[in-house]
Amino acid sequence: MKRLDPVLEEDTKRMLVDLEGDSAVEGRSVLVTGGAGFLGSWLCDLLLKLGAQVTCLDNFSSGRLDNVSHLLGHERFRLVKQDVTRFERNDKYDFIVHAASRASPEDYQIHPIETMLANSLGSLKVLEVARRCDSKILYTSTSEVYGDAKVIPTPEDYWGNVNPIGPRSCYDEAKRFGEALFMSYYRKYGVDVRIARIFNTYGPRLREDSAYGRAVSRFISQALRGDDITVYGDGEQTRSFCYVTDMTVGLYLMLTREGVKGQVVNLGNPRETTINELAELIKRITNSRSRIVHLPPVPDDPRRRCPDISRATELLGWRPRVSLEDGLRRTVEWLKRKIES
Ligand SMILES: NC(=O)c1ccc[n+]([C@@H]2O[C@H](COP(=O)([O-])OP(=O)(O)OC[C@H]3O[C@@H](n4cnc5c(N)ncnc54)[C@H](O)[C@@H]3O)[C@@H](O)[C@H]2O)c1
Repeated sequence: MKRLDPVLEEDTKRMLVDLEGDSAVEGRSVLVTGGAGFLGSWLCDLLLKLGAQVTCLDNFSSGRLDNVSHLLGHERFRLVKQDVTRFERNDKYDFIVHAASRASPEDYQIHPIETMLANSLGSLKVLEVARRCDSKILYTSTSEVYGDAKVIPTPEDYWGNVNPIGPRSCYDEAKRFGEALFMSYYRKYGVDVRIARIFNTYGPRLREDSAYGRAVSRFISQALRGDDITVYGDGEQTRSFCYVTDMTVGLYLMLTREGVKGQVVNLGNPRETTINELAELIKRITNSRSRIVHLPPVPDDPRRRCPDISRATELLGWRPRVSLEDGLRRTVEWLKRKIES
């Protein structure tokens, strides 16, 4: 089996320390759709370490085989290459995570229909499996369901301010539909659904290339190569960046804990940072001579984004632990090695 990158190895160990003695998935069968993607592959790693039998389903549209190639040959890991909208299997799963969806704004705007289908028809397919198997099922929704939120920090009971026909609507509205479908299965059939509204997450395995790149990975890659760091708009828009190990543990708790059935929970780091601050910080950490340049703003880009995580803390005892600076250093270390290899 291929060896994991040292940063990933160490981060996985840290998560296991956080979850010491946890046996919720030991010997249980878990399906992760989108398991070859950024978040899905971290979950596959964690679930396997905690003793689960893991099926990773992915169509490799935005995910990479490299994210899971170290797991090929593991006796409790199975890889299924398939589109979630065509998912038909009679296997039994105790837990399901539905993470299959394009997630980068540039990428989902190039593929709006696939994005809508993964969250609508794809959600229907996995919900039917959960209904048949009586599984606990977690949906990876997004802070984008809040659109350009008028309440900051944003709590779960804020209904959102979304343009239903704008260029981002294929993602925002698909996720809103997905949430409504999950809640319908909960109300109509009593399926044990859980919905995580994920705020911007970064870390090793977040793609930096072409349309798949998101702000953090794109900036780091630009800084390491000495290219211009490209900020859209005036850069005063804010985001809250959560390191991937914090998010993976949060998602794991959402999937396995009691008292979360039928709940919607924000997961993210409540520290709000402007995009300009992020660009400056990355420039400093990488010791880069890149210039920070401003490009025209993108349409419907939310001005501020910051989660109210009181519900996650109350229900799961969860809050992020990794600082932005520490998380960025780890991501830089990983990406540097990847670029050099
Ligand atoms: N990373 C974040 O900051 C963030 C924020 C909010 C929500 N999310 C959600 O979390 C989930 C995972 O996001 P990510 O950041 O890991 O993105 P990603 O692109 O790295 O992973 C998504 C995975 O789903 C696969 N996929 C896409 N469409 C599919 C389909 N129709 N059938 C089968 N597989 C398909 C892709 O190949 C990829 O491996 C997504 O649902 C995304 O909307 C992520």
